[in-house]
Amino acid sequence: MSFDLSPLTEGLSINAERLMSRIDELAQVCPIDGGGNCRLALTTQDKLGRDLVMSWMQDLGLSIKIDTIGNVTGTWDVGSGAPVMTGSHIDTVRTGGRFDGNYGVLAGLEVIETCQTLGLKLERPLAVTFFTNEEGARFAPDMLGSLVYVGGMQTEVALDVIAIDGARLGDELVSIGYNGSMPCPGVIPHAFIELHIEQGPLLESQGFVIGAVTGVQGISWQEVVIDGQSNHAGTTPMSLRHDAAYIAARITVFLRELALRFGGNQVCTVGKIDLFPNLVNVLAAKATMTLDVRNTDDELLQQAEKEISQFLQVLAAEESVTVTSRQLVRFDPVVFDERVIKMVETISQQNGHSVQRMPSGAGHDAQMLARVCPSGMIFVPSVKGISHNAAEFTHTSDLIAGANVLLHAMVALTNHKFTLLEAAS
Ligand code: GLV
Ligand code: MN
Ligand code: MN
Repeated sequence: MSFDLSPLTEGLSINAERLMSRIDELAQVCPIDGGGNCRLALTTQDKLGRDLVMSWMQDLGLSIKIDTIGNVTGTWDVGSGAPVMTGSHIDTVRTGGRFDGNYGVLAGLEVIETCQTLGLKLERPLAVTFFTNEEGARFAPDMLGSLVYVGGMQTEVALDVIAIDGARLGDELVSIGYNGSMPCPGVIPHAFIELHIEQGPLLESQGFVIGAVTGVQGISWQEVVIDGQSNHAGTTPMSLRHDAAYIAARITVFLRELALRFGGNQVCTVGKIDLFPNLVNVLAAKATMTLDVRNTDDELLQQAEKEISQFLQVLAAEESVTVTSRQLVRFDPVVFDERVIKMVETISQQNGHSVQRMPSGAGHDAQMLARVCPSGMIFVPSVKGISHNAAEFTHTSDLIAGANVLLHAMVALTNHKFTLLEAAS
């Protein structure tokens, strides 16, 4: 290794008890059975989580800015120049675990508090942000707040997005009081580094403590609507059916088989199917379903999208129904900055943690920040790879290890002498 970060960060360590107690306290906000949380974006539940985290930013004396899409940034104004930023999200899916997103935000607070307590004279400001609607479970696209932050979507367009429950995003933002005035695109950080649980099984199964994340796979979401014909379940011969439920099932099976056929990093999911009228003895007149298709290789992702689209057409003709689709999300695969990846590897090794390079299967705010500044991510293992589930769990020792890697990386990045260019050599 041709560069050594240890003189900058030797002996530095976060306060594990403080980090764990904040994670526990945030997990008390809108808990669900099994130890997880339900704080869908911009609901009153999300507001309660936001209020708590913002109160902690206030306790640390951070300068707090809320932007026009509701992203909240707390900055410790020390040094000069663009801030070194971390952040993630505190919205959850309906069956969210307590670590997804929350861990990264609270570790960011912990990094700042550690530096403040030790009286470190940092040469750049440190910032921590929680971004609006990372999950995309209520409003599409996912990572909407960070997308708007980097100028990838206009605020006005984002404010008009309609939720799965019919609410308008801009109205919900006003009703929870997080319609801020800081313009988007926001301040471009010197670098962005996000700490997150892996949410998959690789680190645990291979015995690594830290993942140095190389990038995020491409994500394609669409909503498919099948218009069939409702009819009597007892009297309609099988040959005369235009059954939207059956067609939705065929599409679900096609996606699974496509993913198995492609192999590699290809994954496909049908996570939501709504049937109408959804009754035991009535053929479904309508099915509305979502398709989530991901691959690290954009060419393969495009191929998957093409095959799905052809299948939908064939099926519509075969079954004499109308099948329409609408793209909800399309993000290309993202490659993180090699210098940041290398820094995560080096710091992990210097701290005695086994580290493995790996791509992210989940979407993250860092993939949006990567459009405007050197960016990267740190992963820690998820027990049994379970996430988007109340049973999501990461061992405390791993949470602490990850937070310490974040601390060391952020401190190193604030040093004007330690430029990112040096890290690349
Ligand atoms: C966000 O959690 C995603 O769907 O990857
Ligand atoms: Mn997340
Ligand atoms: Mn998530």
